[in-house]
Amino acid sequence: MTSLLEKITSLRSQFICELREAVSSKDLEALKVKYLGKKGPIQALMLELKHASPEERPQAGKLINDLKEEFLSHCDHSLHRVKQREMAAAFQQEWLDATLPGRKQFLGRAHPISQMLQRILDILIGMGFSVQLGPDVDTDYYNFEGLNFAADHPARDMQDTFYLGKNRLLRTHTSNVQVHAMEKFKPPIRIAAPGRAFRNEDISARSHVFFHQIEGFYIDKHVTFADLLSTMEEFLHKLLGAEVKTRFRPSYFPFVEPGMEVDVHCTACKGSGCRLCKHTGWLEILGAGMIHPNVLMKGRIDPEEYSGYAWGMGLERLAILQYDIPDIRLFTENDMRFLSQFP
Ligand code: PHE
Repeated sequence: MTSLLEKITSLRSQFICELREAVSSKDLEALKVKYLGKKGPIQALMLELKHASPEERPQAGKLINDLKEEFLSHCDHSLHRVKQREMAAAFQQEWLDATLPGRKQFLGRAHPISQMLQRILDILIGMGFSVQLGPDVDTDYYNFEGLNFAADHPARDMQDTFYLGKNRLLRTHTSNVQVHAMEKFKPPIRIAAPGRAFRNEDISARSHVFFHQIEGFYIDKHVTFADLLSTMEEFLHKLLGAEVKTRFRPSYFPFVEPGMEVDVHCTACKGSGCRLCKHTGWLEILGAGMIHPNVLMKGRIDPEEYSGYAWGMGLERLAILQYDIPDIRLFTENDMRFLSQFP
């Protein structure tokens, strides 16, 4: 018993000594673990208890327990005090102005033309069309000859077409995909073909040297002009709203017969006449028609057995009409003030 008492006394003075030296909360935590942990001296004393005589054991046990409680309360008391001091020091040092406004994060978003394209593709895919892309750089055959353009057709003129060599050019429309598709697939063919088109024109508020189009075409047995009309109506109603009025006008493109242009009621004035529709009440938005038998024949599809329709439209034009954008050049200037207006 005496030896146990001696041990307790010396352990206590050793502890008090070390407690005085512990300055930080980290020191104190370490001290706590050192004395009260599983491998610490208090635990060792507990083990020694086993060897004490049965009469001594209760009293010795109480002494050890009291010591444990004493250490614990010393540690916790000091920890509380030191932590408060440390926090006060941190507040002094780490000054934070909570009223300073945060840095604004700009969220990326799709370009208005991409948004328009995505909407159109969603509709066309829902109507059974699948997406095919064609080359921007193509030959005279795919852009003109395969589409029944006569050798002296004015659209082949250097004024309109960017030639890259004798027989290489930048496609002037996405209709070249019709010719490629007829080579690759057998009817039924039902394709939506978005992409860039290029024309050698003066750049102005109304026209640019490149723009985007989407072409749609369907070739099968018994495809009729009525199918084309109903497909255009359904498509335009899905794109512009069920209440939109449509108008079909005869027109000429060498690769369709009959050919037409489709107008919709002006989205800005609803038909009463304004600057956007040049006071006609109508906006021309696409060209369409029944695929010319010559085009089918060049594509090795028998026009006696098959027929088809096709249409093409400009995405910039659609976006300009929908949002009343004053200048087509805005689409390529990457001005955030413009682009951030399309959420
Ligand atoms: N390719 C024509 C254009 O660029 C549009 C069109 C496509 C017309 C398909 C009829 C059929 O103007």
